[in-house]
Amino acid sequence: MPIVDIHTHIYPPTYVDLLRSRTTVPYIRTFPEAPDQSRLIILPGEDDPSTPSTSRGRPIGREYYDIAQKIAFMDLHKIDTSVISLANPWLDFLPAEEAGEAAQRINDDVEEICAKYPGRLYAFGTLPLSAPSETVIKEIQRLAGLWHMRGVIMGTSGLGNGLDDPALDPIYAALEEHDQLIFLHPHYGLPTSVYGPRANEYGHVLPLALGFPLETTIAVTRMLLSGVWDRFTKLKVLLAHSGGTLPFLAGRIESCIKHDGHLKKQGKIQGRRDVWDILKTNIYLDAVIYSEVGLKAAIDASGADRLLFGTDHPFFPPLEEDAEEWHSVNANYGAIAAAFKNNQAVADDVLGNNAVRILKLHS
Ligand code: URA
Ligand code: ZN
Repeated sequence: MPIVDIHTHIYPPTYVDLLRSRTTVPYIRTFPEAPDQSRLIILPGEDDPSTPSTSRGRPIGREYYDIAQKIAFMDLHKIDTSVISLANPWLDFLPAEEAGEAAQRINDDVEEICAKYPGRLYAFGTLPLSAPSETVIKEIQRLAGLWHMRGVIMGTSGLGNGLDDPALDPIYAALEEHDQLIFLHPHYGLPTSVYGPRANEYGHVLPLALGFPLETTIAVTRMLLSGVWDRFTKLKVLLAHSGGTLPFLAGRIESCIKHDGHLKKQGKIQGRRDVWDILKTNIYLDAVIYSEVGLKAAIDASGADRLLFGTDHPFFPPLEEDAEEWHSVNANYGAIAAAFKNNQAVADDVLGNNAVRILKLHS
């Protein structure tokens, strides 16, 4: 029974070079206080001058870009196959005229990395979303012909106006036509003002634990409200972090829609697909939620046959110098073991068989 990690990132060397060449977020640099330690600064607000430079962003080591380190991590945690994806913020920040070529370069780089480890690596590609739609569609078509690619990773900003933007329709249509799954992953979080004036005393906890999941939930709900799921009934979207808070809030979202006079007047309540239908038809959820409680909500909302194991490597490494196995990975393994303690066959599906089937791995 294979173990497959579908949520595992890499910054390939070409992307690291790009970040090292920059001086505004996102970028990689050293600071005079610690000249031997490169830091990766990616999240909004991470380079706030009130944060000491030695705790800005996160240290970046080989595990972020060296594929040998990914393979060693996989071996240590008994992961047979990984579906790797570029980590946030992808190419969202590039000027339109640079994005198309950068996407090709990075996707080719990732495809080549996968080819070096037959059977062990597949990937989600990256789209040049700041480029004109035709460029994006061309890359979708090109990715469909790359052997190891199994879909695309995308943030919530779309072409700049979010995933409910009608300008995305030709892109959704192309993804649907080529049967390419979207791995939807957060990056932007919530406006930093909601974290309050003491936010820099709390590390990354508020944006990562809460900003990320709410960003995902809001993005999918905007797709729902704008009718994306009614227009693209075959669109497949894998949601990071077990859907953010979507499984938990789906009932509230539906209730708010049904009680909204404005939507009623516009005739937008009758005849639409509801969120429960979409959760069981279009949406897949990863199992990156670190506890049985959240995992159970994901299972109830989408079904164990749509749930896929992931690690979020190289993020969330153990903080102890001498730790071997990663607590974050074992928390995800533990939640699956606890949720399916009387049904090893279903646990095996979540750990790997679902990914093999849904992403057509090994074929
Ligand atoms: N932090 C990030 O910026 N990205 C992830 O995927 C996880 C943590
Ligand atoms: Zn991630």
